[in-house]
Amino acid sequence: MQRRTVVKGLGAIAAAPAVGVAAGSARAAGRTADDGTLVFDPDAFTELTVAVTDTEGTAHEVVYRFHKVASYVAKPVDVLYQSLNVSVPVTIDGTAVDARNAPILLANSVGGYMPSSVANKTGITATGMGGGTSRQGLALAAGYVVVEPGARGRTLVDQAGTYYGTAPAAIVDLKAAVRYLRFNKGRIPGNVNRIVSSGVSAGGALSCLLGASGDSPLYEPYLTAIGAADASDAIFATGAWCPITDLEHADMAYEWCWGSNPLAGGALVDRTVSGELAAAYGDYVASLKLSAPGFGRLSARNLDDYLLKTFMRPSATKYLAALPDPARETYLAAHPFITWKNGRATFTWADFLTHVGARKKNAPSFDAFDLSTPENNLYGTGTTRARHFTLYSLRHESGDSARLDEDVPAKLHLMNPMHHLVGKANGSRSRHWWIRLGTKDTDTSHTVAGNLSARLTGLGDDVDTSYYWDAGHGADQDPADFIRWIAAVSGHQGHRGRLGR
Ligand code: DHB
Repeated sequence: MQRRTVVKGLGAIAAAPAVGVAAGSARAAGRTADDGTLVFDPDAFTELTVAVTDTEGTAHEVVYRFHKVASYVAKPVDVLYQSLNVSVPVTIDGTAVDARNAPILLANSVGGYMPSSVANKTGITATGMGGGTSRQGLALAAGYVVVEPGARGRTLVDQAGTYYGTAPAAIVDLKAAVRYLRFNKGRIPGNVNRIVSSGVSAGGALSCLLGASGDSPLYEPYLTAIGAADASDAIFATGAWCPITDLEHADMAYEWCWGSNPLAGGALVDRTVSGELAAAYGDYVASLKLSAPGFGRLSARNLDDYLLKTFMRPSATKYLAALPDPARETYLAAHPFITWKNGRATFTWADFLTHVGARKKNAPSFDAFDLSTPENNLYGTGTTRARHFTLYSLRHESGDSARLDEDVPAKLHLMNPMHHLVGKANGSRSRHWWIRLGTKDTDTSHTVAGNLSARLTGLGDDVDTSYYWDAGHGADQDPADFIRWIAAVSGHQGHRGRLGR
C-alpha cells in the first residue's frame, strides 16, 4: 500500500497546550486576526487507507488524504478544541475519485454539550459509537469530503476558574469552522456550497442550530473575537439525530409529553411541579403559531394527535411491515395496544406513553432546581459553573421577584434554532433537513423534534423527519439512507450507488 506522508503546518498542534487555556489567550498562540493564517494548504496531508464496511456488510478500501488544520480561527482560545480534520477520498476500491466538487459532511462529535476535540486524531473516525461504521466512514466511501471539527464545551475552565466553553461557545466554534471552509473555497476539496452538517443529541441540537442560524448577525461579535474567517457560515443541509434543543422550553415540553410517565423506580415526579410546567407549555405552543396539514393550528390540545399520526403510528407501521410475518405476529401478541389492519398500526397516544414506560429525567428536567444538569452548566458564565435559565426554576429557588441574569435571554436565543425560524424566519437557513429520533427516547420531549419539523415544513423547506420505533437515545437506523439523501439533495452524481443498498 502506498503511503505518502506530507505534513506541513502542524506546528500549532504539536505546540497545543493542554486543557486550560484562558479566554483571550490568543496572544499565547501568537496569532493575529489576519485571515492569512486561515489559508488551507492542499499539499499538507497524510495519505491513509481505511476499510469501510457498508451497511450491507461489504468492505471497501478507501485511500484518502487526511489534512489536519491546526486551527480554524486566527485567534483561538484553545486549539485543542478549535481545530478540524479534513478527509478527502482519493480512490475507492482502486477507482480514482474526484472529490473536488463533492458534498462536504461536517460531522460534529459533540455530546452532552461537552468539549469535543479532534486534535489528536490520526485518521478519520471510521467506527461509530455502536461499533458499526460511522457516518463519516460511509460518507468517505461514498466519495464525499468529510470534515470533523472540534468545539469548545461547557466544562472547560481555565486556571483562574473561568468557564470558557459555556454558551454560546460551541455554536460559535462550529460556525467558525464553516467560515473556514467557505473562506477556503477552491483550495479545500469539496463543494463549500454543499456543506451538510451532522450531529447527535447535543450535537444534533448544534447541527439544527447551525442550519437555522446561517449568517445571523447575532454571532458576529463572538466570531470576531476568535478571529473567524470573513466568509459565510450558512450551510446547505442539516442532519440531526435526537436533537436536545429549545432548552428554555424543554422542561414544560417534557412534562406535557412525559408528565404521567414514572421514573425508573416507578415513582411519579412531583405532581405540582409537573402540572405547573405542563400547563405553562400551552402558552408556548400557541406562541409558535405552528400548523400542520390536517391538524390546523397546533396547540397543547392537538399536539399529541399530530405527533401520533405524523410520526408514532407511521414509525410502528414501518417497523412492523418490515418484520417477517411470524415475528410481527409475536410482536403484536406481546403488544395488544397496537391494532394491525391493512398493513397499518394504530394505537392511542395514552397507550403509546404507557408503552414507552419509564422517563429518564426528573422534573424539571433541564433547569434543575439544584443546578445539577448539563444545561445548567451550559448557561454558566465567568467563574459561575451553573445558572438557572428559566424563570420557573429560578423563582422556585429565589422567589417571585427574581430575574434571570441580564445576559441569559440573548444567550438562549443564540442556542435555540426556533429563535431563528419562528416569526420572520432566517432566509439564510438550510433548506434541507434530515431529523431522526427513537420513539423510546425520553432525553427530551417528542414535541421538540415535532415542532421543529412542523415549522420547517410550514416554511416550505425539504424536511425528512422519521422516528425509529422502540429505539432509544442516539439511535441511527438508516445511515445509508442519509448518505443517499445527501447525494439526492446536493445533486451529487459521483459515487452515488457505490455503497450497497
Ligand atoms: C445529551 C443528552 C441529554 O439528555 C441532555 O440533556 C443533553 C445532551 C447528549 O447525549 O448529548
